[in-house]
Amino acid sequence: MITGKFPNLRLRRPRKYDWSRKLVQENNLSSNDLIYPLFLTEGNNKKKLIKSMPNIYQYSINKLGNIVNNVLENKIPMIALFPSTPGHKKNAYGEEALNEDNLICRAIRFIKKRFKNDIGIMCDVALDPYTSHGHDGILKNNYVLNDKTVNILMKQALLQAQMGCDVIAPSDMMDGRIGKIRKFLDNNNYQDVQLLSYAVKYASNFYGPFRDAVGSKKSLKSDKKNYQMDFSNSSEAFREVALDVKEGADMVMVKPGMPYLDVIKSIKENFKIPVLAYQVSGEYSLIKNGIKNNLIKKDAILESLMSFKRAGASAIVSYFALEIAKKL
Ligand code: PBG
Repeated sequence: MITGKFPNLRLRRPRKYDWSRKLVQENNLSSNDLIYPLFLTEGNNKKKLIKSMPNIYQYSINKLGNIVNNVLENKIPMIALFPSTPGHKKNAYGEEALNEDNLICRAIRFIKKRFKNDIGIMCDVALDPYTSHGHDGILKNNYVLNDKTVNILMKQALLQAQMGCDVIAPSDMMDGRIGKIRKFLDNNNYQDVQLLSYAVKYASNFYGPFRDAVGSKKSLKSDKKNYQMDFSNSSEAFREVALDVKEGADMVMVKPGMPYLDVIKSIKENFKIPVLAYQVSGEYSLIKNGIKNNLIKKDAILESLMSFKRAGASAIVSYFALEIAKKL
């Protein structure tokens, strides 16, 4: 028999009105939590749509002023720069990475000259935008050589720091590179440049559109499983983070994002270090196309980003950053 008292506790009570839902909301997303990735292309006055990423473009350097202004107006603290290197500048050793007039170096100089420290710039350290084979390092017999690659990455990191990059983000997954890069930066008086390690980067199937955007998709013949992590593993992520913390990482990244919320949460709980999440290109395009095709609602964007906050991420790299910041 159901009496008037049943049930005693009604969790729906605080959900009844918008005002009271607001009061019990446990997590919040603000533009402070967002990092906006920007793709660069050579040339002048270029704004080229990336076919596999609706509403995401490659910009030539002279177009960056407007877009960075827009990012700043929406109070996003940092951008992440990714170059699309023309094919004729790529080779097996990724030498273009060390050219101080390469696309990324010119872009850093342009933005820092104009915006000073009003905005943070983050740059990947890895060779894949520059190698003819699309791998993140030097290849021998189809295997990416660790120590030889690290020697180049150190120089790439220093060059980016010299250009004015604020946050160096090694995304290559070589062993020992955080310690080597930290020492090299310090010895060259860049001790204040921050290191954000992509400590936990999975050999993921969600990177496709990004590889389109930086032009490494066609060149990449195999996968990256001999250096990026197996998606079946999570304890291994702890070992990766522990090493990078010891070697001097200021922050760590988990990538991709949504399939790895468990990893974000347990790293946050076990290491008291800022954990960032990367909602990668494949995640973006899936959601974006779902909305376009009326399969899911627009608020799926906010829902996806809030999941990172629940998991404990300090910030999120997302192609939705600008679009969502306008609404926050
Ligand atoms: C490579 C790099 C990748 C991404 C960022 N840096 C792809 C890869 O490892 O092949 C992917 C980002 C995305 O998919 O949005 N150093």
